[in-house]
Amino acid sequence: MLLATVIIAAGCLRAPAEEADLNFGYALDPFALASIPQYQAIVANDATMVTVENYMKWGLIHPNPSTYDFTLADQIVATAQANGQQVRGHVLVWHTQLPGWLTNGTWTRDSLLAVMEDHITTVVTHFRDNFPGVVTHWDVVNEAFNPDGSRRDTIFQQVIGDDYIEKAFAFARAADPDISLFYNDFYDDFSLAGETLLTGVPAGPGATPTQSDCAQLPKCAATQAMLTDFVARGVPIDGLGFQAHVLLGQAPDYVELADWVGPLGLEWAATELDVKVLSSLGDNSATRSAHADTFVSVLDDCLESDRCDTVILWGVGDAHSWLPGFTNGLFDYGLIYDDDYLPKLAVVKMFERLEAASVD
Ligand code: G3I
Repeated sequence: MLLATVIIAAGCLRAPAEEADLNFGYALDPFALASIPQYQAIVANDATMVTVENYMKWGLIHPNPSTYDFTLADQIVATAQANGQQVRGHVLVWHTQLPGWLTNGTWTRDSLLAVMEDHITTVVTHFRDNFPGVVTHWDVVNEAFNPDGSRRDTIFQQVIGDDYIEKAFAFARAADPDISLFYNDFYDDFSLAGETLLTGVPAGPGATPTQSDCAQLPKCAATQAMLTDFVARGVPIDGLGFQAHVLLGQAPDYVELADWVGPLGLEWAATELDVKVLSSLGDNSATRSAHADTFVSVLDDCLESDRCDTVILWGVGDAHSWLPGFTNGLFDYGLIYDDDYLPKLAVVKMFERLEAASVD
């Protein structure tokens, strides 16, 4: 038993994920990856694919107009390459973590488009040329819609207009014809409910276990309309990322939520999965059981769908999760390893589910 715990503590999900043809892994922090042996072992032994939680974002990788800093992103990509893993790039265009020179600049449509093209081309080309074949997917645009389906009022939306999204995809495709390009967003009731609990502002309907009809959810319906239009007009896009920051026991039915994606010839992926537990509930055997079931529900949906081959978790262990800091401590315990990088029940349950998939 002790030996089994030690083996699981160091990771065990990679082999069954490979057998199941699933891209599985974690969003990584370069400092933890460089300094914590348990973190390194789990990443090596669990993941077939990793992403970079923060250090490919615009403000960190392109801090000045003519300066790019690839140091920390490169460390993660180089480790993935050494481990024989693929990398999902995150993220080329997003309204958060932008540099001051961009948000405080004076722009015209043409000048901001030129800056966006330079940014996307430089970043995509850097990884294409320095790590050939390693960065296989990119989240090109992130979180462009409000809960009511209107466009989020970002600097790109304000200055460039609606077509900033398709321009971003075109720039990415021009930079690397071989990568998969995704639009990435969240549609879940608990992401929105979490915001509502924090701000008191009703956030609009989101997907739940009993309401996973995209057409009934304004934000999802708006995304469907945009991607349908993109495909009709030949805008280069390969898939839709569901972030999947899900609330304990409240994972939507992603197969249903994404049932329109396959007919468009697109893929879908769970790109930022974690399971939010109200801190007041605690991290105990009852919450760990529901937490494991919620992870398996999302994993199941991907394995069941012939249009999903990727599940990425938004961090390795609770010690490095974004959750408590970003929710004023309201939510915690989101990941499958605890603060000490010991496995929770979710690791065992996901191992069992992956093993079952690999013999299907
Ligand atoms: O880099 C600075 C560092 O120099 C400084 O010492 C430190 C002090 O707090 O802050 C560091 O920056 C932080 C950065 O994470 C890296 O740790 C930022 O303050 C912090 O805001 C940033 O948070 C990230 C957040 O995106 C930004 O909005 C979270 O870690 C990251 O998990 C989160 O990820 C997003 C996805 O990209 C998109 N989907 C939602 C998801 C969760 O919010």
